[in-house]
Amino acid sequence: PASESLVSVQIVNKSLVVHWSDDQQSTLHPIWLRENCCCDQCLNQVTREHLVDLRDIPADIRPISADIDERGALVVIWSDQNHCSHYNPRWLYAHCTNRVSARDDKIRPWNTNDLQEPRSFNTVDGIIDDDILYEVLLTILRYGVARIRALPVDERQVEDLALRIGPIRETHFDRIFDVVSKADSDTLANTSHHLAAHTDIPTRESPPGIQLLHCRIAEAKGGHSTLTDGFKVAKDIKQQFPAYYEILTTVKWCHANRAGPTDYRWESPIIGLDQQGELREVRLLPFSRAPLQADYDDMDDIYAALKCFMEMVNSPLYQMTFPFKAGDLIMFDNRRLLHGRGEFYPKTGDRALRGTYIERDDVMSKIRQIEQRRCQ
Ligand code: OGA
Ligand code: ZN
Ligand code: ZN
Repeated sequence: PASESLVSVQIVNKSLVVHWSDDQQSTLHPIWLRENCCCDQCLNQVTREHLVDLRDIPADIRPISADIDERGALVVIWSDQNHCSHYNPRWLYAHCTNRVSARDDKIRPWNTNDLQEPRSFNTVDGIIDDDILYEVLLTILRYGVARIRALPVDERQVEDLALRIGPIRETHFDRIFDVVSKADSDTLANTSHHLAAHTDIPTRESPPGIQLLHCRIAEAKGGHSTLTDGFKVAKDIKQQFPAYYEILTTVKWCHANRAGPTDYRWESPIIGLDQQGELREVRLLPFSRAPLQADYDDMDDIYAALKCFMEMVNSPLYQMTFPFKAGDLIMFDNRRLLHGRGEFYPKTGDRALRGTYIERDDVMSKIRQIEQRRCQ
């Protein structure tokens, strides 16, 4: 494309100024350019790993000459050992301009006016090809959830799909877990009770990023699924109840698992922000919350804020409710969405889900892999 071709290059002091055909101009730092040389002395051509050591690049390195060759590449000869570097203009453009990605993966916070059920994708003869998978993964980035329908109901499906995207994120629960009603269950999940909106395993420093849940049998009455966009709720609380938002983003709760032989706990706010104040995650597992440790005088407000969050994530305006049919698989961001289920009645029939986890960045990696394959 025209926007990726170099029009001219000039040496200005120690830097290079390039002009692009879309009229943009970039000033390239000599160390930045030199360390990104991709010749076979500087880059392992098989692993694509750097062979240049930053310590070996002189701090005062400068370009001696700079040209655009007949293939459109930038060619630079350096003051240090007359080393010669070639830069592919597409690579250069992608890395040195503040170009926004062509991929539209901005998050779309939703409530139930925006989205009544997860966006759905049908298998073709039970198969999910890479084109469908790409759309599924992009949908997860945007909405936090995607649903695949008409999948076979055998036991291997969920693991096979997860492994196409990335390695399984193991936890102190089973690597691949079954959600079925059990008499001696060590977790509420494996009963027939209603499960209020929650995130799984907030008791870990990094809770599993993406949950896959495959419905294999849905003969029992009840047991509908629920999903809530925790980011939408967080944004609305910030607007409507700023004092609660402040509490929810700063006061730490201890999320603790006390059953079984392990003892995982993690202290963090319900709404987690990154350094820039952007939403990073929500955590809520109401039945695994350890006693609050706070000053008596602060407790009224802390409880009120948490209650407000819990009311909203379980309210019809924010929580979608939909039947979970055999052959459906939902994949959702467990650090953004809260999920739950209605009570079901085991005497009326069986219900069997099978699930597992992968990480958020496995999804990103798979998306990029599919994009790269498409470019070739
Ligand atoms: C769980 C869970 C959902 C369901 O096991 O943590 O949320 O539909 N299960 O049973
Ligand atoms: Zn080189
Ligand atoms: Zn759960």
